[in-house]
Amino acid sequence: MKIVLMGPPGAGKGTQAKSISLRYSIPHISTGDIFRKNISNNTELGLKAKSFIENGDLVPDEITIALLLDRLNQEDCLDGFLLDGFPRSIGQAEALDKYLLERKQHLDAVLLITVPSEFIIDRMTGRRSCISCGASYHIRYNPPFTSGKCDICGCDIIQRKDDTEEVLRERLEVYQSQTRPLIDYYKSMGILKEVDGTQSINAVFENMTRILGSAYNK
Ligand code: AP5
Ligand code: MG
Ligand code: ZN
Repeated sequence: MKIVLMGPPGAGKGTQAKSISLRYSIPHISTGDIFRKNISNNTELGLKAKSFIENGDLVPDEITIALLLDRLNQEDCLDGFLLDGFPRSIGQAEALDKYLLERKQHLDAVLLITVPSEFIIDRMTGRRSCISCGASYHIRYNPPFTSGKCDICGCDIIQRKDDTEEVLRERLEVYQSQTRPLIDYYKSMGILKEVDGTQSINAVFENMTRILGSAYNK
């Protein structure tokens, strides 16, 4: 199963991706998580990406596309994958299509999580993220079992540097101008499925599995 998860910052992509990846046994690939890991390890990639991420802008396509295709070439992606936060520009979507076409593969579904902007500030300011595995929590809607520690890996959970109101405003603008056009792109391919992201975390997940079940058994 090859899936793309789309939606504005704070829509719940990372939250749902963890559960979908477990349910369907496919790797969860978050370009944001990969960049953050590289930043904290001070790698060359991390140094290149840091200022874009801290300002809320997209990391340039040539860096991001090379990183993603390299990840897709790893063995665990042979039977499928779940992309969270990629593609985010038409150039990235075209690069992904080209990669899949060359391998006679295709995406099964693009799930778009829709959430009105009034929900987003509340979700982002209450969010806490695991420094190691990237899992998302919320101080009210999804607290960890043990305060300050990740349920999955036990590492510390912290507030992301790009979750300030100022950076978030830029991220939302970038979503509107560069990522939203992908909605029509995937609609015209007939694979875009919308999911109401204002429901509870469990209800969103149930909806997604229903949609994926029918997309996959077509
Ligand atoms: P990235 O890490 O992908 O950030 P994002 O797209 O802005 O999305 P978020 O991770 O902030 O939100 P999410 O949808 O995952 O929500 P979450 O599940 O955490 O990218 C960061 C940066 O990296 C970009 O700005 C860019 O610079 C760079 N980058 C990454 N990919 C790139 C690419 N392809 N090209 C170029 N640059 C790239 O949920 C949010 C909160 O809400 C949590 O607290 C959660 O607990 C809570 N929540 C979730 N669902 C619900 C629910 N149903 N009800 C109540 N609360 C909920
Ligand atoms: Mg995320
Ligand atoms: Zn963790």
